[in-house]
Amino acid sequence: MRVLVIHGPNLNLLGERQPEIYGTATLAQIDEFIIAFAREMTIEVDCVQYNSEGDIIGALHDARKTYDGVVINPGAYSHYSYAIADAISSIRIPVVEAHLSNIAAREAHRRVSVTAASCAGSVSGFGRESYALALRAVAILAAK
Ligand code: DQA
Repeated sequence: MRVLVIHGPNLNLLGERQPEIYGTATLAQIDEFIIAFAREMTIEVDCVQYNSEGDIIGALHDARKTYDGVVINPGAYSHYSYAIADAISSIRIPVVEAHLSNIAAREAHRRVSVTAASCAGSVSGFGRESYALALRAVAILAAK
């Protein structure tokens, strides 16, 4: 089973970006954690990060050809990108959304995720564990 993990905008700055909200781990450290977790589950995983909406949409389109599922943290695009939501709806492999922080407990503009509505489900608020839980969900859905 092959799963693509897509990190969205500003997540390349993890470690230095608002550590009180997102923690002190860098994106490279989070990716190491994801890869180790995937290995335990015998999932092949690739992790990518894009700051622009078009790159994320392109990655979703391409993923349908080579991956069995996608875990995506669309960052702030979660809250307003109907284009990413449509891209998720346009592919048939399972897509699960992950957020480090609990978006339901944050500012009003973060409480709605328009992209999560196009996903099979979402995990939010567990730091790097959100990715592990989302990966597990994708594996369950992709195995069906
Ligand atoms: C985030 C939450 C978003 O609201 C924010 O814009 C991010 C990170 C998270 O993982 O908690 O960039 O997606």
